[in-house]
Amino acid sequence: SGMFTYDPGFTSTASCESGLTYIDGDQGVLLHRGYPIGQLAEQSSFMEVAYLLLNHELPSKDELDTFIYTISRHTMLHEQLAQFYRGFRRDAHPMAVMCGVVGALSAFYHDSTDIADPHQRMVASHRLIAKMPTIAAMAHKYSIGQPFLYPDNSLSYTGNFLRMTFGVPAEPYVVNPVVEKALDRIFILHADHEQNASTSTVRLAGSSGANPFACIAAGIACLWGPAHGGANEAALNMLREIGTPEKIPEYIARAKDKNDPFRLMGFGHRVYKNYDPRATVMQQTVREVFESLNVSDPVFETALRLEEIALKDDYFVEKKLFPNVDFYSGVILSAIGFPTTMFTALFALARTVGWVAQWNEMISDPEQKIGRPRQLYTGPTQRDYVPVDRR
Ligand code: CMC
Repeated sequence: SGMFTYDPGFTSTASCESGLTYIDGDQGVLLHRGYPIGQLAEQSSFMEVAYLLLNHELPSKDELDTFIYTISRHTMLHEQLAQFYRGFRRDAHPMAVMCGVVGALSAFYHDSTDIADPHQRMVASHRLIAKMPTIAAMAHKYSIGQPFLYPDNSLSYTGNFLRMTFGVPAEPYVVNPVVEKALDRIFILHADHEQNASTSTVRLAGSSGANPFACIAAGIACLWGPAHGGANEAALNMLREIGTPEKIPEYIARAKDKNDPFRLMGFGHRVYKNYDPRATVMQQTVREVFESLNVSDPVFETALRLEEIALKDDYFVEKKLFPNVDFYSGVILSAIGFPTTMFTALFALARTVGWVAQWNEMISDPEQKIGRPRQLYTGPTQRDYVPVDRR
């Protein structure tokens, strides 16, 4: 009984209080604990941003070193978990594998996860942040039939991930500092984004007191969808399909057609009604990576031209549809050598930082309750059961 606010898709309901991330969608502003995303992306590192999100403040040099050391202590996977991969088909999507493997972590750490204890929560958070690169890299290695590589803790978080993904035991792997920096920046750009669908999923799952590893697996499941994290893969596939700038008008027309379900992938956002500040940094990063690697990709020209045409088109102007973070990320990831199927897995790796930080914030919030939305019932009113032989 009682009246409820009807808000499908939660377009106007705040589900929690949070001190992590501020977004002004009209101005195109994104701040993490007050710091603008552009400054963090250019001057900070992913580990520093992870520390900031988890611990409220930027670390001192000593605090950062200790944090990086602590994370590095957790990079290995239990050997039993490595066996887990063999149960998957080789052609399984990496996101399917990650849902399964991250969910399975809950079976390895169930005894040490007393979520009422802040220390235990922090250990679980460190484990997740540390193991995600190993898990993602192993998903890739498994799909191409190469041996898994153990982590190398002498490398940076991102350098170690690159080595586990692209290295082989037969020869030394040299981390390219330009690639390392670009990927680290991509991780920063994906670290957190307030109450997006996957983060809300993690909070809702966690609100019942569920195991944190299982909650993160739920977040991965949600992120996979093409309207959310799956958009980076879908955007690059779309750009490749468009192929040449001459074909852009055809796709623009399809995106505008009400009877065609096609959307411009990497365009539009629930909150940003202006340029996504992450897309600005991403576009710059494409230029930097291409310049320093001395490569190019016609798909980048197509993307730039598509953006230019769309931003002048009445449909996109009126609906305030701008490129989002996923529009340019695929171009860089592809230049680095990642297959498109790995793009969303990389998003999951980075967003794990936001998920665990938000989960910690929720559990330590004295107002925290189980997430339990209400509904507007639209089914039949009460009626009497009719036995099957009389139906
Ligand atoms: N291409 C064409 N039309 C679009 C697009 C698009 N990419 N996005 C929104 N519209 C139209 C939509 O058809 C609707 O028109 P109308 O009002 O006439 O029905 C209007 O714009 C509003 O769209 P909506 O779907 O009601 O808005 P939403 O806030 O529910 O959806 C969105 C936001 C991101 C899901 C949507 O813009 C979209 O599907 N974009 C493409 C997928 C994408 O790039 N997703 C990544 C988002 S950023 C990273 C992340 O979250 O993981």
